[in-house]
Amino acid sequence: MVLGMGVPNTMNNRAKTASAVAAAVVLSGFLVGCTAQQPGFVTPGPGPGAGPVLERVVGADARAVLEAFKDRALVDHLEALQRVADDNDGNRASGTPGYERSARYVEEQLRAAGYSPVRQEFTYRRDGERVKSFNILADTEGSAENTIVVGGHLDSVQKGPGINDNGSGVAAVLETARWMKETGITPANRVRFAFWGAEEDDLDGSRHYIDELSAAEVRRTAAYLNVDMAASPNGVRAFHDGDGSDFGHAGPDGSQEIEDVFFRFFAENSLPAETTGFEGGSDYKPFVKAGIPSGGLFTGDVESKTRAQAQAFGGVAGKDLDSCYHRACDTISNINPELLKEMSGALAYATVSFAMARQG
Ligand code: PHE
Ligand code: ZN
Ligand code: ZN
Repeated sequence: MVLGMGVPNTMNNRAKTASAVAAAVVLSGFLVGCTAQQPGFVTPGPGPGAGPVLERVVGADARAVLEAFKDRALVDHLEALQRVADDNDGNRASGTPGYERSARYVEEQLRAAGYSPVRQEFTYRRDGERVKSFNILADTEGSAENTIVVGGHLDSVQKGPGINDNGSGVAAVLETARWMKETGITPANRVRFAFWGAEEDDLDGSRHYIDELSAAEVRRTAAYLNVDMAASPNGVRAFHDGDGSDFGHAGPDGSQEIEDVFFRFFAENSLPAETTGFEGGSDYKPFVKAGIPSGGLFTGDVESKTRAQAQAFGGVAGKDLDSCYHRACDTISNINPELLKEMSGALAYATVSFAMARQG
């Protein structure tokens, strides 16, 4: 299931290769197909999706986006979150001062970039006690009829600073938001950047978000892109298996289009990548349950690196992808900065592709 660069490739198919090649030469304009008219591109999911399916789009240049992200100071965000943990009992868990400080950092960054972040508060139970927490949401311009939610969890576990899990996802989402403002792109569709609370307890923040949506708002949510770990020190480049062709658990209809966009980013940049299933558990779960097309990025946690993965991605076979996952050693030393740049570029590319897509 590892793709690209002379590596065994079980997930690839002709349609995907063809679209990646086409995308490499067509660098602007709205192209490719709408799923309704070109069912050949899409393996049907488990049922009717609630969200509108967006026409796939080739408006962004995957190589240019990667280049742009190679120059971005992603690690600065991780250093800031490490300082927050250092000053607050070594963690940034929901309901603690470390979470509040992490939130202020994200809000300041968003405001400085021109966004107006809002807190969405909620309460939940942890070990029998009531805990107050909140999500942070920041919207771009664009039609709310097709909202693209791009998110990652902001909380850490109580045992550690959570710099790879999930400071790295926060950095990717934040930097995508900042980059979009800087490029001056006017999105056709609204992008909602989301920083979830209490993922580490029971996905409480993202569950609350979905519970608060009306049926109409669920229908208007065209896609959800999740990032839960983007800098695993012995990591891999993985994106979710939207159509279930590799892991047997398809996301809602439309999820394959998200998989395809990530596929295209890595293929056009000749970066080996692989798919990962939806069964691990992260904030995509409530979205998948609501029938919203979903996908996202992952660089690995407690699984040990296989030999094929070491060949494709480098790193050490037989060693955990992130041996500090959920531990006190998930610090600023526990990251792969190059991988973080590549995964953040992938997120930005997918975000802008869907932000500029027309409804199919
Ligand atoms: N993937 C989550 C994290 O570490 C934890 C989790 C696992 C949540 C399984 C739900 C189910 O951030
Ligand atoms: Zn975790
Ligand atoms: Zn996580």
